[in-house]
Amino acid sequence: MSPRPQITLSYAQTLDGQLATRTGSSQWIGGPESLRFAHGLRTRHDAILVGIGTVLADDPRLTVRLVDGRSPLRVVLDSRLRVPLGARVLREGAASGTLIACVEGADPERRAALQALGARVVVLPPGPDGGVALEALLDDLYALGVGTLMVEGGARVITALLRARLADRIAVCVAPRILGTGLAAVGDLGIAHLAEALLLDEPRVTAYGADLIIEARISYPERQAD
Ligand SMILES: NC(=O)c1ccc[n+]([C@@H]2O[C@H](COP(=O)([O-])OP(=O)(O)OC[C@H]3O[C@@H](n4cnc5c(N)ncnc54)[C@H](OP(=O)(O)O)[C@@H]3O)[C@@H](O)[C@H]2O)c1
Repeated sequence: MSPRPQITLSYAQTLDGQLATRTGSSQWIGGPESLRFAHGLRTRHDAILVGIGTVLADDPRLTVRLVDGRSPLRVVLDSRLRVPLGARVLREGAASGTLIACVEGADPERRAALQALGARVVVLPPGPDGGVALEALLDDLYALGVGTLMVEGGARVITALLRARLADRIAVCVAPRILGTGLAAVGDLGIAHLAEALLLDEPRVTAYGADLIIEARISYPERQAD
């Protein structure tokens, strides 16, 4: 396997595993202490990645504000270049620190408009489940000097990385809330047998205000024969 960035998944979920309500509202599931933890984690990574669904729902800045430290490169998975030109990851000079990953065939005019704002746009092959091919993106990021990548969501991106067995670590905030049906943090991983469940190795559990943050390395057991 070629060298690639080490990936940490970091998000806030309710006790019942929801990332957002059924209408997509998620700010803020975790409390202020956990949010500060997440900003500290950002400073310790070379880049932060989200999917376009998160940009469209939350319009995040993806900067470090609550602690001292530099803001990492921002990366958005956006096959069709749907990111609004006025999104916070682009406006007020932010574009120069933002990389948008799209697939071949994305509108060249949108691409030019994003580049004119100062954003870096990389064109990659499509992945097996649609979207951007994750391995190709990781190769590109590694070549750009990204050794550590923090992935903040949303659900489709988290699921895709776990399904592809590419996520190395997790730092999840579990907030004392129950939402019932909403947007599950992790979707279908194709797991049929309990023995195939992904495992958290040597988990460290720390209370941040009313939340618990679980940090661990993820291990991927062998798939079982049906
Ligand atoms: N609680 C939290 O910590 C937290 C954190 C982040 C987000 N959220 C919530 O999560 C929701 C958004 O999650 P979401 O699942 O709808 O969207 P998402 O995971 O943010 O973005 C998914 C989109 O990314 C694009 N994409 C491109 N390549 C991909 C690939 N290889 N794998 C997966 N996606 C790829 C696809 O759109 P294209 O096909 O157009 O490229 C896909 O639909 C929002 O409600 C937000 O509030 C919560």
